[in-house]
Amino acid sequence: METVERFIDQNRARYVTQLCDWLRIASISTDSKFKADVARAAEFVASDLRGIGFRVEVFPTPGHPIVYAEWLNAPGQPTVLVYGHYDVQPPDPLDLWVTAPFEPTERDGNLFARGATDDKGQLFTHVKSVEAWLKTEGKLPINVKFLIEGEEECGSTNLDAFIRSNKERLRCDNVVISDCSQFAPGVPAITYGLKGLAYYEIFLTGPKQDLHSGMFGGAVANPANNLASIIAALRDAKGRVQLHGFYDDVVPLADWERKQFAELPFDEGSFKKFVGLDVLFGEEGYTTVERKWARPTCDVNGLTSGYQGEGAKTIIPSRASAKVSFRLVPNMDPLKVTASFKQFVESRLLPGIQCEIREYGAGPAVLVSVDSPGVQAAARAVETGFGKKPVFVREGGSIPVVGTFKRELGVDTLLLGWGQNDDNLHSPNEKFSLADFHRGIRASACLWQELVQR
Ligand code: BES
Ligand code: MN
Ligand code: MN
Repeated sequence: METVERFIDQNRARYVTQLCDWLRIASISTDSKFKADVARAAEFVASDLRGIGFRVEVFPTPGHPIVYAEWLNAPGQPTVLVYGHYDVQPPDPLDLWVTAPFEPTERDGNLFARGATDDKGQLFTHVKSVEAWLKTEGKLPINVKFLIEGEEECGSTNLDAFIRSNKERLRCDNVVISDCSQFAPGVPAITYGLKGLAYYEIFLTGPKQDLHSGMFGGAVANPANNLASIIAALRDAKGRVQLHGFYDDVVPLADWERKQFAELPFDEGSFKKFVGLDVLFGEEGYTTVERKWARPTCDVNGLTSGYQGEGAKTIIPSRASAKVSFRLVPNMDPLKVTASFKQFVESRLLPGIQCEIREYGAGPAVLVSVDSPGVQAAARAVETGFGKKPVFVREGGSIPVVGTFKRELGVDTLLLGWGQNDDNLHSPNEKFSLADFHRGIRASACLWQELVQR
């Protein structure tokens, strides 16, 4: 282990250089203009793993390729499957980036680039830790597989089918994912709960074309007005979601968990500062941490209708649309939410308004056990890598494949986030702390040792 750690310390600069090479590839999965770049990003990690000594296959899909790699020369020892994604979110709005999103730049100990923390940088810690073992010891203490997809940021369209038809190949004792956050700088965490997600787009159509709002106003229903009233009804003034039966299956927060959340060093002041607000808003009766981690929510993510140019234009728009998503907590059934949402929208349509609801995938929330031997091993590895015992947290983000791994492979996931809450994922100026990158590699190298069957 000492030689492995020494190797990691000595190669610190090279790891950053290699990560930068990967970050320069604009692997934006949602935009077909970048299809070739997405494929190049897959090849990058595939060829790195090949060079390290893994057996690697790149599987084409109707969308972006899936990279699978394995090193299985530790007979009798457990097998870990590392999941991650090499695709990234679009960088827009571009003008808010201090330096260009695909020109990784170091500032104040952070590496700024789209994908720095989500998820190339975090995933790369595991790639470099297996490299450190193979380069120094010539072997790993356990068997390791990698499953790296390129469609995570656009709904993982082809991943579930791949997992279902490759159960034997993917068989493992634990999944490891580093694609979430620490609690705060200096407070590493193991995540035991993530929210689910149910995402829709509503399209309302009224008159066959935009109309003069004086000549026709008052005589026909306006799809923009109708959409606004539907959206306004989704949450009440106390922040409660108004879909029929929305809270029926929600497990109330237990007292022990509320107590545990309250004991974490959450600083509401710096949270407000980060979001640029003097006052917060959320469901009445819950703290900010409870709202973020353990209460279901509803948010409009995009809204379009009518004249968008400068100045006034007096029309009744023909169309209006909105992207609306719900974050779900454990025990909520995404299919029930879909049915309830459709009923909610359709029952509020004004005469003459047609509605189409497109579904962008729905997945349930996950909770993983915190007292398994795998979690204990991970806690020791995080403590070694980061120099502090991890706290146990839930998070508001979603990693739907965690549920798939449980369902299809019967295994729990270790959610070991190396990021920070202010890493700006999906936002301008995404970053990853180089210290966290280095500590993540060390923790990962330790994890393989900690998971050895003794
Ligand atoms: N890495 C994030 C998920 C995440 C972020 C979990 C922070 C916990 C803390 C992932 O890449 C992501 O963005 N997931 C999407 C869901 C997906 C279905 C598009 C999300 O949470 O919006
Ligand atoms: Mn991610
Ligand atoms: Mn993401």
